[in-house]
Amino acid sequence: MTSGRLGDCERPNVAPPGSIFVLQGAGDFCKVEIEMTSGQTAPTPFAKRLLQAGVETAKHVLPARVRASLRERWTNWQRNQRVSKSPDRAVLTETIFPALARSQVFARGADVLWIGCRGYTKKYYRLIEAGGARCWTLDIDPNASRWGRSGRHIVGGMLESDVLFPDVRFDAVLCNGVLGWGVNAPSEQSRAYSAMASVTKPRGWLLVGWNTDRISDPMKATDANRWFEPACLPGFGARMVVEGCTHVFDLCRRRSDTIGSGP
Ligand SMILES: C[S@@+](CC[C@H](N)C(=O)[O-])C[C@H]1O[C@@H](n2cnc3c(N)ncnc32)[C@H](O)[C@@H]1O
Repeated sequence: MTSGRLGDCERPNVAPPGSIFVLQGAGDFCKVEIEMTSGQTAPTPFAKRLLQAGVETAKHVLPARVRASLRERWTNWQRNQRVSKSPDRAVLTETIFPALARSQVFARGADVLWIGCRGYTKKYYRLIEAGGARCWTLDIDPNASRWGRSGRHIVGGMLESDVLFPDVRFDAVLCNGVLGWGVNAPSEQSRAYSAMASVTKPRGWLLVGWNTDRISDPMKATDANRWFEPACLPGFGARMVVEGCTHVFDLCRRRSDTIGSGP
């Protein structure tokens, strides 16, 4: 990704192909950044003046607490927009979820665990539940509860999944962007696989999304193979390497020959 000032572009106010240009303006209240993908046109000078006037007015009218809250919401919104547009999200929602749904993994009555909640994951729960499955969510960060599945969210670490879910065994566990984003050391990741195995039904499914620039291949660096074996869905293989980013999805099934054996 390239970034820079729009004034430096060949065509004024139009971001060049293959780039993300960031338009910046700073006030006391907040820094305004408008991210523009290729070909997108910059806001007109009038729109920019209007935005700046809004920011200036808010600075005088709103208490500091409200301003801080608005600033946080704005930052989250920008991050959600950026992440939602990344190529791995399209693979997840347009290829993997539909394939799991077609294979009856998200069928009526199924229990599905989604690990790691952010603003942009909220829309996933509806997709998972479209065929009648129950989606549960888990995040170690208490502040992430607002992005969890309402009524079925648990605050806690995934290494303790068996304690956190004593009564549920999942048809599928979906763990995207947590290995390498909190569960980092290979020894911790091995414990994570063992913990996920303990809450997955025999022959249940596991999806792990990870980034090649953050961790080593977890299928090699951990003892994941003790609990899970690579599995395919119609149309694609057990490993999906996403083009245009560092994201990899690994699809596995719970081995039935290690059910009941301790970690
Ligand atoms: C980069 S975000 C990924 C969120 C989301 N799963 C996704 O698809 O992008 C990492 C999330 O994992 C959570 N997390 C980190 N360590 C965790 C742990 N041990 N157990 C549960 N959640 C954890 C963080 O709080 C954060 O919400």
